[in-house]
Amino acid sequence: MPAPLDRLIDALADTGMTRFFRRMFDDYPHLLMKDQTVEAVRPDRTFKLGGRWVTNFGSDSFLGLDQDPRVIAAIERGVHAWGSHNGSSRAFASVEPNVRAEHKIAEWLGTEAALIYPSVTLANVGALPGLVTRRDVLVADQFAHNSIDEGLKLARARGVRTAKFAHNRPDALEQTLRGLQPFRHTVIAVDGVYSMSGELPPLAEFQRVARRHNGCLYVDDAHASGVLGEQGRGTVRETLGGYDNVLTIGSLSKGFSCLGGFVAGSQNAVDVLKLRSNSLIFGGPVPPPYLEAVCTVVDILMSAEYPAMRAKLDLNVRRLIDGASRLGLAVMGGLVPIVSVLVGTEEATLKAGKFLYESGYYVQSVVFPAVPHGAGVLRMQVNANHAPEQIDGLLDALATLKDATPMPEPAVLAALVAA
Ligand SMILES: Cc1ncc(COP(=O)(O)O)c(C=O)c1O
Repeated sequence: MPAPLDRLIDALADTGMTRFFRRMFDDYPHLLMKDQTVEAVRPDRTFKLGGRWVTNFGSDSFLGLDQDPRVIAAIERGVHAWGSHNGSSRAFASVEPNVRAEHKIAEWLGTEAALIYPSVTLANVGALPGLVTRRDVLVADQFAHNSIDEGLKLARARGVRTAKFAHNRPDALEQTLRGLQPFRHTVIAVDGVYSMSGELPPLAEFQRVARRHNGCLYVDDAHASGVLGEQGRGTVRETLGGYDNVLTIGSLSKGFSCLGGFVAGSQNAVDVLKLRSNSLIFGGPVPPPYLEAVCTVVDILMSAEYPAMRAKLDLNVRRLIDGASRLGLAVMGGLVPIVSVLVGTEEATLKAGKFLYESGYYVQSVVFPAVPHGAGVLRMQVNANHAPEQIDGLLDALATLKDATPMPEPAVLAALVAA
């Protein structure tokens, strides 16, 4: 007789999403690359994946800082000074580089304070439920990141009313909040940039609706940290000019090439979040070597060198977007260094990714449930340390792919977005 745990696992294997993935593994065993191992990396953005050296267009280390000698030296310095981990929740004490990194992040952004979590996911599942009580309501854009959704679920489990509103629509937000009255306060959670489509949220309009309903904005700007706006400060400062009535959430993993996430805003908000974020109180912190690296990255973002670094990244993004558009592909994104090309069915998308890999270029085949069923995309992440020749090589491979396989025209994309 199998043990109850084995029977539980068998039962889970029979649930909707697991069945869907299992069927995909069975149907396309030779096309799936997600279980391949990265065996080695080189500083020129090539890596050895599944036994083949390819150019990596799947890294969100957008500025190439993972290879920067100063960032690597900061981690080494941190290990020597602090060891590999300080081994205590911040509910008891914080190491000096944690406090220094938070001051530096706040200084860079222009907020009063910042609070570092071990990831953006842990920021969202800690801060969102922490910001509301049963007298308040928590609402989010229907397309906001999964971790915001998880934050809503935790809040709901504590008796907080939550709701989603139609993507990027201030009128839908207004209607949703009217439907939820009466409440004391509301927190409105959105992404700072929708990486796949490249859209920004209408933050100024959302802010007006928020204020009418005694609400504030919570903007998850993970993709934009370090790569959008002046000095890479992100969407909020770029579109609203400041942080009044807003909490801005950023990533220390993507553009920063370190580890973690942060919530930044007023000192009072940060002080309260320290007391009300369970993921921060009951979980461990970012290890000190990575906090030393965060400090170094902030110095780079605030330095005179940053504009040239960004210009190189922006030029690379433009080169890929312009080239893919000239090929007649249905191209999305580009506001942050993520460029997606619509392919279609799951099988066609996986095949296209495999073809590019065999041509020497790794890109991510993104399929359902990350995108709607039948609307799979090739997602390409552009880095500042990609050479122009690597981007041209990827474009040549995309041209060969398009000659060999029917690919959707840009008009198909326009119809999808309008639907
Ligand atoms: C908008 C957004 N929020 C949160 C996350 C999760 O970030 P982390 O890996 O730090 O948990 C991501 C990662 O892709 C993201 O894009």
